[in-house]
Amino acid sequence: MFPEIERVLIDRDRIAERVRELGEEIARDIGADLAAEGVAKDSPGRVVMVPVLTGALIFVADLVRCMPLKLSFGVVAVSSYPGKSVASKGAALRSALPDDLAGRHVLVVDDILDSGQTMKLVAELIREQGAASVRTCALLRKAIPGKPPVFECDYKGFDIPDEFVVGYGLDYDGYYRNLPDITVLKGEAM
Ligand code: IMP
Ligand code: MG
Repeated sequence: MFPEIERVLIDRDRIAERVRELGEEIARDIGADLAAEGVAKDSPGRVVMVPVLTGALIFVADLVRCMPLKLSFGVVAVSSYPGKSVASKGAALRSALPDDLAGRHVLVVDDILDSGQTMKLVAELIREQGAASVRTCALLRKAIPGKPPVFECDYKGFDIPDEFVVGYGLDYDGYYRNLPDITVLKGEAM
C-alpha cells in the first residue's frame, strides 16, 4: 500500500482472531461482575468503553463488536508522541474525561502500551471518579529490555519487540492509521 513500509509484523487475520478472543474474554469478565451485582447484562448505564484517541479508534471498533453487552462510549484524548517523535514525551490529557463514570464498569482501550504512562494516567483519573471497576486493554505491549512499563494492562493482544509500528490505528506523524495490518516503517521514513 505504501512504499515506506518495511514489513508486516502482525497481519489482519491474526489481528481479527485475537481481537475476537479479547472481546469475548473481557465481556465474560465484565458480565461476571454484573452477575455478582445481580444486574442483567443488558441493563443500561453499567458498562462504558473509554478508548484513548486517536490510536484506539480502529481497535475499539472491532473489539466492541465482539462484546455482547449493553455498553456506551466516553472518549478521551491523550498525547504522548506529538508530531514526528518516536519516543514518549510523557502523557498529557488533550480533552476532558467523561465525568459520569462513578459506579460504572469501565474499560480503557488503547492501541499500544509502551512506557505505560498513558494507561496509568487515564486509569487513575477514572478510579478517582469512583468507577465500580476499571479494566485496561491494549492491543500491543512493547517489550523494552531492562525498562518495564510503569503500568501493566489487564488485557493485551500481542507482545511486540521494541520497534516503532504503524497501521490498524497506530500512526507516525498522524499517518498510516488506515493500514489493515500492523507494520514496521523503513528507518529512512522516520
Ligand atoms: P505510553 O504512554 O508510553 O505507554 O505510550 C502509549 C502511546 O504512545 C500510545 O497511545 C500510542 O499512541 C503511542 N505509541 C507508542 N508506541 C508506538 C508505536 O510503536 N507506534 C505508534 N504509536 C506508538
Ligand atoms: Mg495513543
